[in-house]
Amino acid sequence: MSATTPSKPKVVIVGAGVLGLSTALVLCEKFTHPQLEITVIAEYGPHDLSMNAGLTNYPLYTSPWAGAHFRPFPSKNIQEERESKLTRLTLQKFKELAKSNPESSIEFVQGIEYFEKPDHFYKEIAPGFSNEMDNFSVLPTSSLPEGVEMGVKYDTWVVNSPLYLQFLYRKLRFQYKVNFILTKLTSLRHVNSFVSGSPIIINCSGNGLQYDGGNDLSNFPIRGQTLLINPPSDCKFLHTTITHQSKENLWTFVIPRPLHGGIILGGTKQVDESFTGVRDEDTRALLERGRKLYPELMKENPETGEKYFDIVRINVGLRPARKGGLNLSVESKDVYLDRANHVINNYGAGGMGYELSYGAAIAVYEKLLQLVSSKSAL
Ligand SMILES: Cc1cc2nc3c(=O)[nH]c(=O)nc-3n(C[C@H](O)[C@H](O)[C@H](O)COP(=O)(O)OP(=O)(O)OC[C@H]3O[C@@H](n4cnc5c(N)ncnc54)[C@H](O)[C@@H]3O)c2cc1C
Ligand SMILES: *[C@@H]1O[C@H](CO)[C@@H](O)[C@H](O)[C@H]1NC(C)=O
Ligand SMILES: *[C@@H]1O[C@H](CO)[C@@H](O)[C@H](O)[C@H]1NC(C)=O
Ligand SMILES: *[C@@H]1O[C@H](CO)[C@@H](O)[C@H](O)[C@H]1NC(C)=O
Repeated sequence: MSATTPSKPKVVIVGAGVLGLSTALVLCEKFTHPQLEITVIAEYGPHDLSMNAGLTNYPLYTSPWAGAHFRPFPSKNIQEERESKLTRLTLQKFKELAKSNPESSIEFVQGIEYFEKPDHFYKEIAPGFSNEMDNFSVLPTSSLPEGVEMGVKYDTWVVNSPLYLQFLYRKLRFQYKVNFILTKLTSLRHVNSFVSGSPIIINCSGNGLQYDGGNDLSNFPIRGQTLLINPPSDCKFLHTTITHQSKENLWTFVIPRPLHGGIILGGTKQVDESFTGVRDEDTRALLERGRKLYPELMKENPETGEKYFDIVRINVGLRPARKGGLNLSVESKDVYLDRANHVINNYGAGGMGYELSYGAAIAVYEKLLQLVSSKSAL
């Protein structure tokens, strides 16, 4: 035991999406001895005040454009099983936050899913689907809408994504005194120009950051376009999230955004597409599916054509997907030896960034704990 106060281990989190901010929060909550010196570096994030005004559409920042809700699904392989466990850790944390911090915008609502052509994993309620979901039940066939073969309901959470990011940011900046730097990095190594002493780097860069000019070739975008709708005042979807999966594998969902954030009607899942502008044909298709499946939301007066809803904005986001799923590996490659930076990855969450967020942050915490204890043992 040394009599002098040891300096705090330095950690730099690259990325201020839901993964970066959740990781920062878990590290602040769990690392009390020793405390860490944490810096978040990101090109975009809630520390950029123009984001708060909703002025800009950021192509490489997905988190504000998520629905977002938790829609569990049956696991088809080991990776999905692992990710499913992470979603349940998030579920437990969100139950606590919904009670202790309503300003987080997390709200528990009824989740409903309709399937026109469920695969056998859904039909068998395979592991990953119903476990730990409160009040899960299969809906009676007689209650299903036309064309639907199977339906389920359960309790789940929804969140107002931009407000949740703000909540995390304010907690980090003002309660835990985390440093935030708003800049575009050219590589992960570039972190060393901002923070001295070979910090441990946590890579929460979505799929935006090219390392040394390269990029993980397993990364690919899944484009999502949604409509933010101001619903009719008698709308029944304010405390319900519904997902309808059609025979053609089109997903049409409504997700309320708590704290007066309107309702998200989505969406598209365009694999390998990275167009960040609004596509009118997608908007038309969404409106058509919405009118058919959720007429109470798209309410119109049949005689006058008067609309009781309005489209507040059209959102476009690129889900940072990755073949093989979320990458949580610890990099100890020689490329880093000149500066001896260790890197813990936390990227590639695809369409599950919020669902996984807290569980993935716990996994990073466990890896970091090992690194820090082995470093101080040297
Ligand atoms: C339409 C739509 C609906 C969705 N619905 C849901 C849902 O219901 N539930 C759910 O869980 N998920 C949902 N998602 C997915 C979710 O949005 C993503 O999984 C999540 O936002 C990924 O978060 P992230 O932190 O990994 O990445 P991002 O939010 O993209 O953050 C990446 C961060 O890295 C920074 N960065 C990247 N490159 C650099 C660089 N060179 N220099 C500095 N900083 C850099 C960026 O600036 C940013 O801060 C949805 C997505 C879309 C598009
Ligand atoms: C839903 O589940 C919770 C937790 O298991 C339970 O307390 C509650 O009574 C259930 N509600 C209904 C309507 O069954
Ligand atoms: C960091 O994340 C990016 C995705 O944004 C990925 O391409 C890269 O391989 C990751 N890891 C390292 C060590 O750069
Ligand atoms: C994670 O990404 C790194 C490169 O960033 C790669 O070397 C490693 O194999 C990946 N790990 C997993 C488990 O996919």
